[in-house]
Amino acid sequence: AFNGLAITPQMGWNTWNAFSCDIDERLILETAQTIVELGFKDLGYHYVVIDDCWSAGRNSTGHLQPDPNKFPNGMDFLSDKLHSMGLGMGMYSDAGSLTCARFEGSLGHEQIDAQTFASWGVDYLKYDNCFNEGQSGTPLITYNRYKTMATALNATGRPILYSICNWGEDYPWKWAQTVGNSWRMSGDIFDTFDKPDARCPCTGEDAFECQLPGWHCSMMNILNKVALFPEKGVPGAWNDMDMLEVGNGGMTDDEYVVHFSMWAALKSPLIMGNDLRKVNAQTLSILSNPAVLAVSQDPLSSPAFQRWRYYVGDKDEYGQGEIQMWSGDLSGGDMLVVLLNAGDKNRNMNATLADIFWDHGPGGTATQVKQAWDVYDLWANRVDNATANAIIAAAKANTTAPDNALPFGYNATAN
Ligand code: GLA
Repeated sequence: AFNGLAITPQMGWNTWNAFSCDIDERLILETAQTIVELGFKDLGYHYVVIDDCWSAGRNSTGHLQPDPNKFPNGMDFLSDKLHSMGLGMGMYSDAGSLTCARFEGSLGHEQIDAQTFASWGVDYLKYDNCFNEGQSGTPLITYNRYKTMATALNATGRPILYSICNWGEDYPWKWAQTVGNSWRMSGDIFDTFDKPDARCPCTGEDAFECQLPGWHCSMMNILNKVALFPEKGVPGAWNDMDMLEVGNGGMTDDEYVVHFSMWAALKSPLIMGNDLRKVNAQTLSILSNPAVLAVSQDPLSSPAFQRWRYYVGDKDEYGQGEIQMWSGDLSGGDMLVVLLNAGDKNRNMNATLADIFWDHGPGGTATQVKQAWDVYDLWANRVDNATANAIIAAAKANTTAPDNALPFGYNATAN
């Protein structure tokens, strides 16, 4: 980790998915209060991130200043408030002349802007890629563009988590580990399970192409792309599958269980993106599942790997139905197993020990140390197992249970 932060994937909340540019001080303070009161803070959701649209440009000395209508008391006031509540303050800028919503960008102003953020008590910077003046399309140039801000942030002496948001352009998973704490892998998440959007017509099979600026990605698009590179996530440097849509209404609760489970299993940052002040019981239950959060924050920090994937072809008009099995190492010799049914029929899915410990696939280094396992369903009592799209389970090693095969045979259904 280049700055010692995000040793496990960062957790928090961001304004963008639910509020876009409709943000102000009151929203931030009310959300922070809710994060504390609903127990999210105690579960590890630490950063409150103000995304695009906070700025009023530069003042006469070249310093960025917040929009006085939205943030009348300034950003240092806000960070003081957040810090007094035990939370971290996140902000947003762009490695270009303008942000994506056409506010002032930081390209060419990295030092002064990093100093400004540090002076405001900022703990987290999300750094976007719009209006980069042609400085994309070549990994080395993009690397340098993002590294300039990393260096400027480090020079402030303040620990500032650095979240690179270049949508998977220029293969950030190949170069960003030494520059940032996370890097986006795709175009923007769209609050849909697997429906292709006009701005992201990719299906599961060509998910790799789903990375262009301004494109929308379904949850399954992003999962199927990141499935190609899970091992790039290491302590302090994570594949960012984009902010959570859980609770925003475009998917069913069962589909949000898939979304949340896979973001945890692959060690993506867990940045909530819904209106927490209006959270309902199901959404609260999903976002605060301590067992799934323990998978995300597991000290071994080993992302899960896709062991198999079959098209089952029964997913409505989009034809993207598929079933997948993922597994991964957890600390203490435990294993994570995920059965994911993205089809529209109930299916009996079985994961054999040979599949779970498959040593020929990506990341297939897991060694089966035990023949006997106890199995815990991490969503038990949280959602209705009979209708959940994903079963996520931890197999506990070092037990004396007699079975040598996991008793999986859950029915999982979609929609
Ligand atoms: C880009 C990013 C989003 C969001 C918007 C803000 O699209 O990918 O996550 O920050 O800009 O304008």
